[in-house]
Formats: sequence, structure tokens, C-alpha cells
Amino acid sequence: MTKRVAILISGGGSNMVKLVESMTGDHPGRPCLVLANSADAGGLQKAKNLGVPTAVVDHRPFKGDRPAFEAALQDTLAEHKPDIICLAGFMRVLTAGFVTPWQGRMLNIHPSLLPKYRGLHTHARALEAGDTEHGCTVHEVTPALDDGPILGQARVPIRPGDTPDILAARVLGQEHKLYPQVLARFAAGDRTTIMLK
Ligand code: GRF
Repeated sequence: MTKRVAILISGGGSNMVKLVESMTGDHPGRPCLVLANSADAGGLQKAKNLGVPTAVVDHRPFKGDRPAFEAALQDTLAEHKPDIICLAGFMRVLTAGFVTPWQGRMLNIHPSLLPKYRGLHTHARALEAGDTEHGCTVHEVTPALDDGPILGQARVPIRPGDTPDILAARVLGQEHKLYPQVLARFAAGDRTTIMLK
């Protein structure tokens, strides 16, 4: 049975594009919605160009009332009946009130080799720590931030002279490979982890 996949974004949506483009042929998932927390998100037009329904739930009118924002998110999602939610560059922290009903059906991609570097500024932190490798992780979303069961990781070398931006770009290239592979397995009910070099 084809799984309906909603993708949540905040920005350019490069991961969203790769996910949408991967859901063809015998892939068990199909995109049903791209939802952004701002009308300015560049990924919205990319989603429209790809023929995917879009929606915006702006978090700013809710100013700090996180449960109200999340209720609006949930209402919009319910209209599109997703089976799976993929967070892809979605920059709002979600509370247990939203996450718990979706637990086991919601994925996120984080730009570090979790459990290292939960939270923000992961590339700068890896460089400051003198790490020799870095990467990205796709995990199931649980109420604890960047902490759910790991479904896939991809590694990149850190090279002399790397800046956070150079490293971020190298990691992003791996994100674009990893996330579609993990989603294809996850949508087929397979939680075997994927490890990309
Ligand atoms: C990526 O680095 C991703 O790891 C993080 O958001 C960034 C932007 O992603 N979650 P995208 O280009 O909007 O998909």
C-alpha cells in the first residue's frame, strides 16, 4: 500500500527535492504535501514545480504559543492524510504534544554523526573539536531533540582548511543520498540501518 509522505521545510528544501524526486516507480511512498513554517521558504516554489501540494503554517502569529502552532500544523497535515512525516530542514522545535502521536512515523535528517553534536552549528563544532570526520544522520523523531533511533548515517572526511560552509556543503551532498535511501526502506517497513561511506 503506497505510503503518503508529508515533508516539512523551513528553507530552500534541497533535501525535500531529493525526497520528492526519489518517490517514483516501485518506491513505496509518494509525496502528498510540502509544508513550510514561512511563506518565504524557497522550497515551496520547488515543490509546486514538482507538482506537489503545498501549505504554509506560519509560526510567527503564534508567538511563543507552541501548542497552538502545533495544533495548526496538525490540522493542516490532517487535511492531507500523511502516513509518514519527513522533517527536512525544518527549523522549529516540536514538543512531545506533537511528536508523540507521530512517533514511529516521523523522520528527521540532522547534519552530524549523532549522538555527536545535537542541536545547532554542528559543522563549526566538529571543526572546533578537531574531528577528522563528520556527516549526517537520519533518525526517527522522539520528544527528545535529535535523539531518536538512528536509521542511517553518512560520513565525510574533514580536510585541512575546511570552513563550516565548505563542510556543510560536503555533508549536504551526502544528505541528498542518504535521506531518499532511508525513506524508501522506511516506507517499506524496513528499519535496517543504512551506513554510507
Ligand atoms: C541541512 O543542512 C539539513 O541537515 C538541515 O537543514 C539544512 C538545510 O536543508 N536539517 P534543506 O536544503 O532546506 O533541505
